Amino acid sequence: MMQYGPVSGNISATDRLLLDEEHARLEQFMNDMSDICENFFLHGNCLACNRSQVATCQGRLTSFFYDFLDLVAEHFENEENILRSSLTGGDGDERFFQHKNEHARLMHEINDLMRESLLLSHQGNPSAAIRRLDQKITEMFGAHANVFDAPILLLTQKDGDE
Ligand SMILES: [Fe+2]
Ligand SMILES: [Fe+2]
Repeated sequence: MMQYGPVSGNISATDRLLLDEEHARLEQFMNDMSDICENFFLHGNCLACNRSQVATCQGRLTSFFYDFLDLVAEHFENEENILRSSLTGGDGDERFFQHKNEHARLMHEINDLMRESLLLSHQGNPSAAIRRLDQKITEMFGAHANVFDAPILLLTQKDGDE
């Protein structure tokens, strides 16, 4: 696991709220994705479903991909802007670069994962695709949140910005 120690700076209450809201929204999005599959918690495959149910899941999953990619890209951009204005060293801060690079790397990984999962879905198993996505994205985002986002959320809040 990459080292990313404490950061120094101040975050405004508005920015802090925005980050919390976006993180909650991403989490909600993942829950909504597992809800696409009726059997997600039961068998996690499409054997009990008929062709039209499978087709519905494939369609929903495909539109989820695009919405999710947009949401993640937007969140990373907002978070980077907040970092830039909150860290003591601004965009010259080493922590800023590390975090930004990590976002770029994650975006790449998510794109690859989406492509693989879309293939799996179109091979007739959207349920397996959803399971794989849920697992991988939870892992990736969990690790990122612990290592990179947690220190920002611990920044001292600026006064008088409520
Ligand atoms: Fe981040
Ligand atoms: Fe984040």
